[in-house]
Amino acid sequence: MPVELSRQDEFAVITLNRPEALNALSFQVVREIGAAIDEAAASDARALLITGAGEKAFCAGADIKEFMGRTVVEEFNTTQAGQHTFARLDHLSIPSVAVINGYALGGGLELAMACTFRVAVSGARLGLPEIKLGLIPGYGGTQRLPRLIGQARALDLVMTGRMIEAEEALAIGLVNRIVDADAPLDGGIAFAREFAGYSLPVLRYAREAVMRAGTVNLTEGLALERDLNTLAFEGEDAGEGATAFIEKRPPAFRDR
Ligand code: CAA
Repeated sequence: MPVELSRQDEFAVITLNRPEALNALSFQVVREIGAAIDEAAASDARALLITGAGEKAFCAGADIKEFMGRTVVEEFNTTQAGQHTFARLDHLSIPSVAVINGYALGGGLELAMACTFRVAVSGARLGLPEIKLGLIPGYGGTQRLPRLIGQARALDLVMTGRMIEAEEALAIGLVNRIVDADAPLDGGIAFAREFAGYSLPVLRYAREAVMRAGTVNLTEGLALERDLNTLAFEGEDAGEGATAFIEKRPPAFRDR
């Protein structure tokens, strides 16, 4: 199977499994990623991790060999399908973490950017090289990259097509952590454990509020924050958090 969904402890794990093609995103792979995201969403997993099989690549982007002979209509439909598939991660009820274990290029980096978080091994190389193919990113890169790292840096990466190392990606905020190259998935899981014990609905409110900061004005953003904060306050977990603090014990959140 070119895409595998598995379980590790309380986490769902999607593995792109075409190492012979550096886990490139064929039509089939994109379809299967969508199905795996839906299956993970329907499970009781507390986070979704996405990684690549083999030691060389997370994902080297859209399958360039499938470009040959594609009509304009097919290109439009393929691009839209890829965008819709990755956008499912925006609406996923659990946080997602891309575990970048090697090259994350083009659609591969776009998949990683659609995740809530990114961790990368030292030695991973990230970039949007579409310009070198006479193209621009099509699976969300021109929109998610500036939201993550700002317009000037995004223009640099999109218009030069250059690859950056994991350390530079960390410095500019494109990845959240560097993880051990000998066990990248373990590193991703250790990162996910930093938040996986918190209340899932409250994590969702936090994510929603921060993600909207880039798209609404300050007045609307503050109103959204106030409303989501109030919603969280109404939940059982907020009561448990304050009680646990006063009783000097760890909270036991119940996702309510
Ligand atoms: N599509 C299809 N096959 C790919 C691929 C891709 N994106 N990337 C690598 N492969 C295949 C290679 O063709 C090769 O297979 P064969 O041996 O059968 O020819 C195999 O994977 C190994 O790749 P290389 O021999 O090229 O490995 P390398 O170590 O010499 O180079 C690399 C690694 C720098 C990542 C190079 O493979 C590369 O530049 N790949 C293409 C990266 C790219 O341009 N990605 C953007 C695609 S467009 C896109 O993603 C659009 C979008 O926005 C959705």
